[in-house]
Amino acid sequence: MYRFSKATEELRTSEIRDLMSLAIRPDIITFAGGMPGNDLFPIAEIDKIYNSLPEKIKQQAFQYGPTPGYPPLLESLKEFLRKKGLPVDENKLLITTGSLQAINILAKIFVDPGDEIITEYPCFIGAISAFKSYGAKIIPVPIDEEGILTEPLKKEINKTIAPKFLYITPYFHNPAGIIYSEKRKEQLIELLRNTNLPLIEDDAYGDLYFHKEDSHRVQPIKALNPKGVSICYTGSFSKILGPGLRLGWMLVPEEIYVRAELCKQAFDACSPTFTQVIADEFIRSGAIYPYIERLRNEYLLRAQSMISELKKHLPQYVKWTEPRGGFYIWLILPEGTDATDILKEAIKKGAVLVTGKTFDPEAKKNNAIRLAFSNTTIEQIEKGIPIVADAIRKICG
Ligand SMILES: Cc1ncc(COP(=O)(O)O)c(C=O)c1O
Repeated sequence: MYRFSKATEELRTSEIRDLMSLAIRPDIITFAGGMPGNDLFPIAEIDKIYNSLPEKIKQQAFQYGPTPGYPPLLESLKEFLRKKGLPVDENKLLITTGSLQAINILAKIFVDPGDEIITEYPCFIGAISAFKSYGAKIIPVPIDEEGILTEPLKKEINKTIAPKFLYITPYFHNPAGIIYSEKRKEQLIELLRNTNLPLIEDDAYGDLYFHKEDSHRVQPIKALNPKGVSICYTGSFSKILGPGLRLGWMLVPEEIYVRAELCKQAFDACSPTFTQVIADEFIRSGAIYPYIERLRNEYLLRAQSMISELKKHLPQYVKWTEPRGGFYIWLILPEGTDATDILKEAIKKGAVLVTGKTFDPEAKKNNAIRLAFSNTTIEQIEKGIPIVADAIRKICG
């Protein structure tokens, strides 16, 4: 018998993964994957970038690189982040292997087994798994359409033994699709001020707003540089270039950076130099800006199509918020519904989705569904949403 660690005993294989193996029919329509559109990757731009690289840089691209990141990328990314108003000069930037690695590193440097940490409910499953893998006890605090609820959060923050950190995804939340209101951000800052509770601000989707007037609403809390609040800001190239590059970052106070860099040395020594070279040129050439603009327009069309189909087909009792960016729509079903039954029914008819309990740190609450519109065509949305709606009616009445 192997004597595995307690922390990894807590990790669960998702029931979804097992059901997904049933969903391999080529005609199945999938609203399940939280991934960019395959048809949207900037393949031609990247071909051009790679082909025009000098031989010496190509050689460097195949080589190991420094742990903090490929130096030219650290510079160009700083510029990219400075444009969002982020305080890049007063903090340190670390390139990571996807932002999930940034989340893992932060969990590793803060969490001892049994320590409490706070997340939103619902919460990104990758973060739940990362936190659990270090033995964290997760305290989920619910969100509404404006962000995390401050009253229950206040109770958790004021406990005698305070949790180690708070993790949130304020911009086009995964899975809930919402964006924090200005008011909620301000309330959150006031709650956190001088509490010694670090905030992990996960900004994987903030660039993907659909409406110009929201460009200020995606301004990170970190960019406000609030006094007395320590913020670890994480971001990613996954949704604005491609997850296959496996590149993300953290922008953190120096003291946290020193620990994080030591951890990263132990994890993987460096993130792929090859993709860092590509990402650097993608920013430096300016190609990233029109590309993100194209993504915003394209995802808006997909979201609009899903919104219109949902309005046409969903029963009134399903509650949901129209997304203003990102990849997701979160359907809240009547209390007591088991969304797994809906998933089974939808798979039979040819559509796949993700059930609510996947995003519950306690893996219990299952009266919700996440639909992703990012990697489906409008034709698939028009065909697939009636299937989902029929499955909901069949199970919920
Ligand atoms: C909210 C959120 N944070 C972080 C990530 C991690 O992305 P990556 O590790 O590809 O940067 C994801 C991926 O889906 C996500 O949805």
